Amino acid sequence: MKNFIPNLRRRISRRACLRAASLFPTAGLAASRASATVTREGNVHTIDDVDTPAVVIDLDVLEKNINGMQQVCHDAGIDLMVHIKTHKVPQIAHMQLRAGAVGICCQKLGEAEVMVAAGIDGDVLIPYNIVGRPKLVRLARLAKRARMTVAVDSEITAKGISEQLRKDGASVRVFVELDTGGKRTGVQSPQAAVELAGKVSKLPNLELRGVMTYPSRLEAKAFIEETVALFRKAGLPIEEISGGGTGAEARSKEIGCTVHRSGSYVFEGLKRISASRNPPNPDTCATRMIATVVSTPTPDRIIIDGGQKTFQRGPRRGYGHIVEHPDAVIYGMSVEHGHVDVSAVSHKFRVGERLSVIPDHQGITINHHDEAYAVRKGLIEDVWKVAGRGRVQ
Ligand SMILES: Cc1ncc(COP(=O)(O)O)c(C=O)c1O
Repeated sequence: MKNFIPNLRRRISRRACLRAASLFPTAGLAASRASATVTREGNVHTIDDVDTPAVVIDLDVLEKNINGMQQVCHDAGIDLMVHIKTHKVPQIAHMQLRAGAVGICCQKLGEAEVMVAAGIDGDVLIPYNIVGRPKLVRLARLAKRARMTVAVDSEITAKGISEQLRKDGASVRVFVELDTGGKRTGVQSPQAAVELAGKVSKLPNLELRGVMTYPSRLEAKAFIEETVALFRKAGLPIEEISGGGTGAEARSKEIGCTVHRSGSYVFEGLKRISASRNPPNPDTCATRMIATVVSTPTPDRIIIDGGQKTFQRGPRRGYGHIVEHPDAVIYGMSVEHGHVDVSAVSHKFRVGERLSVIPDHQGITINHHDEAYAVRKGLIEDVWKVAGRGRVQ
C-alpha cells in the first residue's frame, strides 16, 4: 500500500495465500511466492483481510485489458485516448498512458483537475460543453497547467470559454461535437458543424482542432465525410476526428476518425459486457465487490452487505455476477442490502461467508467508493484512492 503504508512488507504464509487466491480464478500457486502489503497495525493484507463491502481490482486482468486495447487500436491504425470516467483513479490513468495512450479524456472538469493534480501531463480532453462562470474560471486555471481540449456544440458555449480564457490569459483547443445519431449533444448537420467551426476559428484564445462524435457507428460515416469536405472547402483546420466507445475502435477508423476514446474496456474487457452477447466474465472483468453474507433468512434467500449504495441504484440488466456461485441471482437491492436468490445453488450458505461479485456496471460501482484494493493473485499490492469520485462538477 504505497499510498498509506511506509515500507512495511513481509512474506505471508502459503495457507493465507492459497485461501486468498481462491477468490480469483487467475490466482494460483504463484501467490505463495508473492509478498503482501502490511497495514499500519502490522496485519498482512490479502483479500481475505479487507473489510466488506470492498472494491478490489485484479491487476492481472486490468493489465491484460489495458495492453489488449492498446494492441486493438494499434492493429486498427488509430490512436487511443483513454476515457478515465470509468475508473477515476490516477494510478490507472498513468498505467494507460505508459501503455501507449495518446492522452486522457475526462467527462467532467472536476475529474480533469484530479488527474492533472496527480501528474497526468499529456493531452486532456473534456468532451463536454463547459458552461457557467465557476467552471470557466477553473478551465482557464487548468489550461495553464495542461494541454486542454474541450468540445462545444453552440456558439454561446464557445464564446463563454473564449471570453474567460482571454481574461485569464489561457487557451484551449476545441472540437465541434457532431450528433451523428447518439441523440445526446452535438450539432445536427455537417452544415451546422462548419458554421460553428467558422465562428470558433475567429474567437480569441480558442484553437479549432477538429470534430468529435459519440458513439462511433457506421451511420456516422456520411455525416463525418461531408463535414470534413465542408471544413476543407472553407479552409478550416480539421487535424483530429475523434470517435468513441469500447468495442468500436475499428469502426472509428472505418468512419474516418483519427483517434478513439475508450473507457469501459479497462474494467469490462475489450468489448462491453451485455447479458446475452458478453456476460460478466472473471477472465475479462477486472473489478470485484467483495461482500459478506450477513443473513440467511430462508433456504432460498441470502442477504449480502452491499445494496444500492454499494453497487448502483437500479438494474440495467442485473446487479452483478457472483463468481463463486454463478447460478445465484442478485435479484434486488435495498439501500444497504443485496438480496440474492440461491434456490438454484446446492451450496449451503452461512453467515460470514464472503462472496466476490462482478458488478454489472463497474464504472458506477467504483464511483460509490473512496478506495479500491489493487490485488494480484489474491494479495493486495496497493490501495488506490478513487480520487475522481463524486467530481461531477
Ligand atoms: C463522449 C464519450 N466518449 C467516450 C466514451 C467511452 O465509451 P466506453 O465506456 O464505451 O468506452 C463515453 C462513454 O460514455 C463518452 O460519453
